[in-house]
Amino acid sequence: MTHHTPFQPLSPAARRGGAPHRHGGWVRASLAVGSLLLVGVAAAADTSATAQLQRWSTQANAPANAEKGKVFFNTRQGGEWSCASCHNTPPTTEGKHARTDKPIAPLAPAFNAKAFTDEAKADKWFRRNCKDVLSRECTAAEKANVLAYLLTLKP
Ligand code: HEC
Repeated sequence: MTHHTPFQPLSPAARRGGAPHRHGGWVRASLAVGSLLLVGVAAAADTSATAQLQRWSTQANAPANAEKGKVFFNTRQGGEWSCASCHNTPPTTEGKHARTDKPIAPLAPAFNAKAFTDEAKADKWFRRNCKDVLSRECTAAEKANVLAYLLTLKP
């Protein structure tokens, strides 16, 4: 009777410690990439506009002021653009990038279900846009004020 081993006999390459080893590495690597992608998808809608308003007013240690947010949004702060240059005023309709003309989804959450539902996205664009408009990052209070203003906009 022949003895059946559950394993494939080692290929010459494996005996030399070659390809199959690398192959295992690839499998592990793709599994790792797969889980990262899943995390990425899960993070794509990880929050709400009101939760982010709470986050920034807590950081600012002050209640948000929608009126100040409105003025901030519509005012040029020494540079070429205000927030409204790309996001319209009121920002309830599709905006247009002031330089590239690319369409921008409405910023006010009541007009765009995706607005402010991704923490990393909001942080990234606040950082980038504030640098464009103010040549610095916005403070937590400024972010809270802008979002409070955006949340007052209703259809
Ligand atoms: C030069 C054009 C431009 C200007 C000026 C600009 N933005 Fe934006 N903003 C964009 C673009 C483009 C996006 C990305 C839109 C998208 O992918 O949905 C964006 C996205 C955002 C987002 C992310 C929204 C979300 O869903 O999380 C915030 C917040 C934002 N802008 C705030 C501001 C504020 C505040 C100002 C003024 C300080 C400003 N923007 C000025 C172009 C601009």
